[in-house]
Amino acid sequence: MARVLVGNARDFPNEFLCPVDIEGWSVGIVRVDDIFYAFSNYCPHLGAELTGSLVLDTKVICWWHGSAFDLGTGLSVGGPAYDPIKTYPVEVEGDSVYILKD
Ligand code: FES
Repeated sequence: MARVLVGNARDFPNEFLCPVDIEGWSVGIVRVDDIFYAFSNYCPHLGAELTGSLVLDTKVICWWHGSAFDLGTGLSVGGPAYDPIKTYPVEVEGDSVYILKD
């Protein structure tokens, strides 16, 4: 598993989805207070990139058809998507934010 630096903690506004390109793959980063979440930034319903989607508490709600995903588990918590989004572990060291990506 590779540890990838995705940015400085101060660069991530609270409850806002920030896309980070990692080798051509978009990863969504969301900070909720002091907790960071990372996930594949593509909706499993019809593949929309989730950038621009609403973040509400610890959920992201796809801008296209409204599927909701728990940021911690990736599980769908509201259709039409049934499949989860893949999540990645996050490590914060000082101000540096890393994700662990396979
Ligand atoms: S593409 Fe996200 S809910 Fe349809």
